[in-house]
Amino acid sequence: MASETPGHETQETLSNLLSENRRFAPPADLAAGANVTAAAYEEAEEDRLGFWERAAERLTWAERWDTTLEWNPPFAKWFVGGKLNVAYNCVDRHVEAGRGDKVAYHWEGEPEGDSRTITYADLQREVSKTANALEELGVRKGDRVAIYMPMIPELPISLLACARIGAIHSVVFGGFSASALKSRIDDADAKVVITADGGYRRGAPSALKPTVDEAVSECPGVEHVVVVRRTGQDVATTDKDVWWHDLVDRQSEQHTAVPHDAEDPLYILYTSGTTGKPKGILHTTGGYLTQTSWTHQAVFDLKPETDVYWCTADIGWVTGHSYIVYGPLANGATSVLYEGTPDTPHRGRFWEVVQKYGVTILYTAPTAIRTFMKWGDDIPAKFDMSSLRVLGSVGEPINPEAYVWYREHIGGDRCPVVDTWWQTETGAIMISPLPGVTSAKPGAAMRPLPGIVADVVDDQANSVPNGGGGFLVVREPWPSMLRTIWGDDQRYIDTYWSRFEGMYFAGDGAKRDDDGDIWLLGRVDDVMLVSGHNISTTEVESALVSHPKVAEAAVVGATDPVTGQAIVSFVILRGSAEESDDIATELRTHVAKTLGPIAKPRQILIVPELPKTRSGKIMRRLLRDVAENRSLGDVTTLTDSSVMNLISDKLPSAKSED
Ligand code: WT7
Repeated sequence: MASETPGHETQETLSNLLSENRRFAPPADLAAGANVTAAAYEEAEEDRLGFWERAAERLTWAERWDTTLEWNPPFAKWFVGGKLNVAYNCVDRHVEAGRGDKVAYHWEGEPEGDSRTITYADLQREVSKTANALEELGVRKGDRVAIYMPMIPELPISLLACARIGAIHSVVFGGFSASALKSRIDDADAKVVITADGGYRRGAPSALKPTVDEAVSECPGVEHVVVVRRTGQDVATTDKDVWWHDLVDRQSEQHTAVPHDAEDPLYILYTSGTTGKPKGILHTTGGYLTQTSWTHQAVFDLKPETDVYWCTADIGWVTGHSYIVYGPLANGATSVLYEGTPDTPHRGRFWEVVQKYGVTILYTAPTAIRTFMKWGDDIPAKFDMSSLRVLGSVGEPINPEAYVWYREHIGGDRCPVVDTWWQTETGAIMISPLPGVTSAKPGAAMRPLPGIVADVVDDQANSVPNGGGGFLVVREPWPSMLRTIWGDDQRYIDTYWSRFEGMYFAGDGAKRDDDGDIWLLGRVDDVMLVSGHNISTTEVESALVSHPKVAEAAVVGATDPVTGQAIVSFVILRGSAEESDDIATELRTHVAKTLGPIAKPRQILIVPELPKTRSGKIMRRLLRDVAENRSLGDVTTLTDSSVMNLISDKLPSAKSED
């Protein structure tokens, strides 16, 4: 606990308030047969580069590298001189090894009964045809291809076709607006766009093509737009358009995958960040595929012969790039690919899919888990999910209570939960438990993976002692790290490498507990300064979620004449809980008891929804506007802007209780 003595207050970077005593040891059988054991940490400790070299040997190289790492801070090159083809590694080599009949994707469309099975041999044919098609359109190595698609098989096929010929893909999430798409096409100077007429969302066809037309009308550099017919809805056509089936279907199924350099670009993926122009995060081939492949089999203990793996993310985000496409396919996994939303046609859809395909590994986000909590325990209880053996979480800190709910109600109390911390920029998982090794604590990402050197430092860049809080940094380069921001090396240096000399810092607060394990505490921009204490939003939110009536919570610091900032909480109740008059008092008391009086919220607002980005992260900036009675800032990145009205409506009734 932070000292209450006034003289000490400025010393504290981030308070450590939450204590958690629950631990879940790995199941004995999983530990006994685990892909990765505790020895990996020692091996990597002894010889970090040697460890990553052995990981790179999982891949098939046309030419071996001569230098493992060339580090001119902050610019890294991994496996220098090595040559490989990413698509060959993800597809062809499995077919050549006799595994052509193995399922790569069980694709499940949103309309029930709409499904397709895609084997590795199918994938090889489709990727080859698509690579030939792109070449016919004039796409060459190094050219940029923008991809704006629903979650249909043609999406991973398009990524792999680009990778095969060495074109750089830039996937733009299908929920983004025409102007967001246009600015991304422009920044990367893409010459081809791949899209679809639409996709199914919430039970109805949702158009994509009109958005593309609007964007492309202002992008003279785009030469062709390839359109998959998915929904069959009417679409306007332009002279740049070509139907996928007209172009791809007639191509040869043979395509030679030429090797590319380990440092040739693989893709650009834009992160919006909180302000400013989106950053085009650039990833390259050899190091990226090494770390996505290694982490995928280590963190999920993937057994490619028997596991059915499902990552519920959209391929429009990095989670989908690394853990639906590249990592799983490099490992020869069988995955589920699902087009739609979790509540269509009913709120048990995910569990129905788990039951249908016998999913063994499930990787999803805290925002989804909290939604399932809100919907109620009875929904997953109706399905047979006994096939599950490992559960993963990514995208935000997972509140301990949400973790325990996930473990119990989805994992039947037998599956380890791995809370995986990483970013678009890191390309692959960096901090996570290993399911056969780690005695995991609910809410903690625990330790850097073998070969990763991460730390928590104070504002002077000194490592914090156990029990301390501060900034999460990475001290050594890693294979799947971003190489730069597309077209802007200086912004890369300024954004990630300037806060702390020689260290990568990308904006997260963290603490190290008394055992030395790492807990992520949210973005440092969201930290609240209450009476001189830096309090993380995550800890207060987790304290709220630990109350049996709460499903989800978001807290912000609002200007307060007495305390500098005061904590204002927005709370969604669980399906079973009833809103009562004294609920706010009950919750405030609960937080004070759990974290200490310093963290007691000034206000609690019971709301029906929270504002979220399209990738499911809570937008605390907008809640701060509400809490401070300001007009709302930019709402264009919200999934659903009407939620802000629902929230603002609650404000007048919310009085400070002190
Ligand atoms: C930010 C990166 C990583 C793929 C999806 C998001 C937050 C991510 C965790 C976690 C706490 C997490 C961080 C990070 N985050 N995973 N396990 N625990 N926070 O990629 O959109 O680039 O976002 O997501 O704040 O910096 P992204």
